[in-house]
Amino acid sequence: MQILHLDCSPLGDHSETRKLSRTIVEKFKRAHPDAGVVYRDLAVNPPSFVSAAWILGAFGLPGSDSAEAKAAIAESDMLVDELLAADVIVIGAPMYNLSIPAVLKAWIDQIVRPMRTFIPPPPAYKPLAVGKRAIFAIAAGGGGYDEGGPRQQFNHEDPYLRSIFAFIGIEDVQFVHFYNTVNERREQGERSAQQSVKDLVV
Ligand SMILES: Cc1cc2nc3c(=O)[nH]c(=O)nc-3n(C[C@H](O)[C@H](O)[C@H](O)COP(=O)(O)O)c2cc1C
Repeated sequence: MQILHLDCSPLGDHSETRKLSRTIVEKFKRAHPDAGVVYRDLAVNPPSFVSAAWILGAFGLPGSDSAEAKAAIAESDMLVDELLAADVIVIGAPMYNLSIPAVLKAWIDQIVRPMRTFIPPPPAYKPLAVGKRAIFAIAAGGGGYDEGGPRQQFNHEDPYLRSIFAFIGIEDVQFVHFYNTVNERREQGERSAQQSVKDLVV
């Protein structure tokens, strides 16, 4: 088993999502001692934003053989290769402004690649990153974002991650939530997150 472990919180040892994602990876390692882990810290090494050169290279447009386009695609290829080599992807992702942090979006923009992780529509759309499982360790300062919760409509993190991973073929996704990290319901939020980790079948 190969695990790709990503974090994106800038808070280092104080980050809740880093603690959670680490706990999840450790659980996998206990169950599968031979599992390999590739770790990527998106806060320390943020992926480049999509550029004109990237677009030319990724879509094979005129100019895709320029040095700039090749360099842009080389970075994307490295990130795509890591993803495609993984059976399990564990991502620590704080909620930022109701969605994901920009560095995680930058990573997604690098790995959602025509002919590498999907064959573009229409009419031949086909996802290529199939047979994988993703687990998201989410933390948010507030709460009520769960299904049926009073702020579910404001949760643009889980539905987005679910959709974009499904788009490239990863439909086996699970979420571990630590909500209310910065309010009086923190203890309850932490207990619930720990229970979700316990319940994960690895
Ligand atoms: C820039 C920024 C935006 C945030 N946006 C939200 C938000 O929209 N909703 C929320 O409940 N908490 C929000 N928070 C709080 C974080 O989600 C919360 O502190 C979480 O525990 C951070 O995860 P981390 O400890 O792994 O960094 C935000 C925090 C920051 C720094």
